[in-house]
Amino acid sequence: MLTESDLSAFLASPVPVVAVTARHAGVRNAMAAGWSMPLSMTPPLYGVQVGKERGTHPLITGSGEFGVNFLPLARARTVHGAGSFHLYDGVDKYARVPLTEHPDAPLALAEAFLHYTCRVVNVVETGDHDLFVGEVVRVLRDPEFYDAQGVFRGSAALHNGRGLYVGSGQERLAFPKDRY
Ligand SMILES: Cc1cc2nc3c(=O)[nH]c(=O)nc-3n(C[C@H](O)[C@H](O)[C@H](O)COP(=O)(O)O)c2cc1C
Repeated sequence: MLTESDLSAFLASPVPVVAVTARHAGVRNAMAAGWSMPLSMTPPLYGVQVGKERGTHPLITGSGEFGVNFLPLARARTVHGAGSFHLYDGVDKYARVPLTEHPDAPLALAEAFLHYTCRVVNVVETGDHDLFVGEVVRVLRDPEFYDAQGVFRGSAALHNGRGLYVGSGQERLAFPKDRY
């Protein structure tokens, strides 16, 4: 039964957490983002919510690009590290966490099972965050995490609130219409 709650429950739901990457003028960085979402199929658009004070913010604005990296639960420490340290504190997260740059795609992390390179097509101010709307110009995925039908078969890192992570699990349910 649902009961009234204060806003502490607002951030407590499990969400897929991604590592948002950006690089500009010789600086590269990554941050965790629990607030990200697909926005359109045609054209392919993906959005990430980036706080105005994040070190990543001016890198995206300056370059007009960002990367979205989905990590498995086994790599939750990596994405949490990206969300725990700050570029403005002088931390090179690629060395400190560490993070591994994909050899052929500068915004992709080798730890990811799925990556989107996005070109910024719109920025929408939403309260204390800016929604960067990106056109997906490149997709990379690790075939180890997908079955023959192209369906994900791994366990993605979900943030469960207060720095705790759970996996998306392996249980698979399907609901064809004739079962209703
Ligand atoms: C699980 C998790 C989810 C987060 N989600 C977001 C988010 O969606 N948007 C955001 O701006 N910051 C988010 N953060 C906070 C940033 O990742 C964090 O402040 C990071 O250190 C920013 O790094 P930067 O200043 O080097 O860019 C999240 C942090 C964690 C741990």
